[in-house]
Amino acid sequence: MKNIAVIGAGTMGNGIAHTFAQFGYQVNLIDISETSLEKGLSTITRNLDRMLAKEKISNEAKLQTLANIKTYTTLNDGVKNCDLVIEAATENVDLKLNIFKELDTICNTETILATNTSSISITKIASVTKRPDKVIGMHFMNPVPIMKLVEVIRGYSTSDQVTSTIMELSKELKKVPVEVNDYPGFIANRILMPMLNEAIYSLYEGVAGVYEIDTVMKLGMAHPMGPLQLADFIGLDVCLSILKVLHNGFGNPKYAPCPLLTNMVMAGKLGVKSGEGFYDYSESRKAEKVAKQFIQ
Ligand SMILES: NC(=O)c1ccc[n+]([C@@H]2O[C@H](COP(=O)([O-])OP(=O)(O)OC[C@H]3O[C@@H](n4cnc5c(N)ncnc54)[C@H](O)[C@@H]3O)[C@@H](O)[C@H]2O)c1
Repeated sequence: MKNIAVIGAGTMGNGIAHTFAQFGYQVNLIDISETSLEKGLSTITRNLDRMLAKEKISNEAKLQTLANIKTYTTLNDGVKNCDLVIEAATENVDLKLNIFKELDTICNTETILATNTSSISITKIASVTKRPDKVIGMHFMNPVPIMKLVEVIRGYSTSDQVTSTIMELSKELKKVPVEVNDYPGFIANRILMPMLNEAIYSLYEGVAGVYEIDTVMKLGMAHPMGPLQLADFIGLDVCLSILKVLHNGFGNPKYAPCPLLTNMVMAGKLGVKSGEGFYDYSESRKAEKVAKQFIQ
């Protein structure tokens, strides 16, 4: 396996392209937006510069990694002669089903089609293709170049051979793959999201405040970040939509999203990306913090 196509140059797509290119694969990075491709490449360059400054890679390795990535704005040109396509486009069912329908018609019959989806059923995505045995979940974690885990998700019809190819490939990227079956939330989000939801319920019921809840989990459980801060980083809209997938998929009320989470999303408080969630990330708040540092 030498030629890889990555669809989507956003947060995850550029990280996946970076990782494969760093390990010598030829990567075609595809996005419908030229701006996303430019931003993606500049993020990859910035991350490589950071690694260079820490002497983790040489300048030659940086240049070679960048030379291994080519960008495209159409699927047809980008997936030609690729052995593996990894889809990391926006999390939207219809969008992904359309992409996989098209991939199935334009890719070689042997090409493996993987998706980085956080919550959409691999079996459903595979069902729109004529090669469900070659469709698989390859769920990287953010930031991709740093995080070791790859959750490898077998759809109902994914073959043993395709699963073992993707497990081996992940190891070649110096990642640790784990194999899981295709049920709502897979493993990562099935366990993470109820924990975040429970933290939000604790706040909603007045058991403790934001600082107290996050401090208990950071200092008591050695989590690097508290659950409310983590929810802000993931995006409260993303957390809500994954909880809905769990709730609908299992029909079990234990996954019902906390009303406070629903209200915050309706109010546009989405966490870091909107400037406010459980914490305040607005510019004025940042300026206030800087000013306080000077005064002290
Ligand atoms: N952000 C995370 O922490 C994270 C972690 C694990 C998995 N994921 C999953 O990875 C996928 C991508 O998430 P992201 O956070 O990188 O999103 P993002 O919004 O940062 O990037 C998505 C990119 O897809 C592009 N795109 C949209 N439609 C397209 C199309 N038809 N063809 C090509 N490109 C298209 C957009 O222009 C955008 O650049 C989602 O399925 C998400 O669930 C995200």
